[in-house]
Amino acid sequence: MPLYIVLLGPPGAGKGTQAQRIAQAMNIPHISSGDIFRENIKNKTDLGVQANRVIVKGELVPDDLTIAMIKDRLSKADCQPGALLDGFPRTPFQAEALAKILTEFRGKVNLVPYINVPEQLLIERLTGRWTCRAQGHVFHEKFNPPRQAGRCDIDGSELYQRDDDKVETVTKRIKVYLQQTLPLIEYYQRMGVLVNIDGSQEIDQVTANIMTAIEKVNL
Ligand code: AP5
Ligand code: MG
Repeated sequence: MPLYIVLLGPPGAGKGTQAQRIAQAMNIPHISSGDIFRENIKNKTDLGVQANRVIVKGELVPDDLTIAMIKDRLSKADCQPGALLDGFPRTPFQAEALAKILTEFRGKVNLVPYINVPEQLLIERLTGRWTCRAQGHVFHEKFNPPRQAGRCDIDGSELYQRDDDKVETVTKRIKVYLQQTLPLIEYYQRMGVLVNIDGSQEIDQVTANIMTAIEKVNL
C-alpha cells in the first residue's frame, strides 16, 4: 500500500523544512504545490503566468488549475510508493479531489501532521526566510542560517527572498489560510488521520515528533 502524508499548517509553519527531511527519511517524493508554481513562474509557462497573478497578491490559485497540476504529478512513476504533500490540499474542494485521485491509485491520506505555530512567530519566520533558487531549500537568517550567506548548503545555488514574503503579503496569506484552509483541520480530524504537532519547537524536535507519528501509521 502506498503511503500518503499531507503536511498541514499556516504559511511559515515549517512545512517545506520538514517535508524535505521526512521525504528523504521515508524515501517518497516531496510534492510542494508552491514549489511547482514557482518553477512554472520561472519558466514562464501558461500555468506560471496565471498562477503568478494571484500568488503575488497572497491569494490562492484556482482549484481546477491546482488539482490538475497535482494529479499530473501524483501520476508519475516515482509516486508509486506514496508521496509527501506540502501545501496541497488547501481548500475543502481540493481535499475532496485528492481523496478521489488517491482512490484511483488504491490509496488514501494516511496521516496529516498539522504543524501549529502562533501567528506572531510566522511573520518573523517568513520575513527572515531565504529560499534556494534551484530546488526551493529553505533557510532563515536567524533560526537556520546557511553556512555561507546567500548560498544554499545543499546545492550551492543562490538564495533569494520570495516576492510573497513581504510583510503585507504575508499578512494576507495568513488571512487566506484562516478563511480557506483551516476547515481542513476538522475534515481530517473526522477521518481520524490528523496529528497535532507543536511547530514552535526546534526544527529537529519537530522532525522527531512527525517521525513518531509516521511510525504509528498502519498501512
Ligand atoms: P507555498 O509555497 O505553499 O507557501 P505557504 O503555504 O504560504 O508556506 P510557506 O512555504 O511560506 O511556509 P512553510 O510552511 O513551507 O515554511 P518553511 O519550511 O519555508 O504557497 C505559496 C503560494 O502559492 C500561496 O500563497 C498560493 O498563492 C499558491 N498555492 C500554493 N499551493 C496552493 C494550493 N494548494 N491551492 C491554491 N494556491 C496554492 O519555513 C519558514 C521559515 O521558518 C524558514 O526560513 C525556515 O528556515 C524557518 N523555520 C522552519 N521551521 C522552523 C522552526 N521549527 N524553528 C525556527 N525556524 C523555523
Ligand atoms: Mg513552503
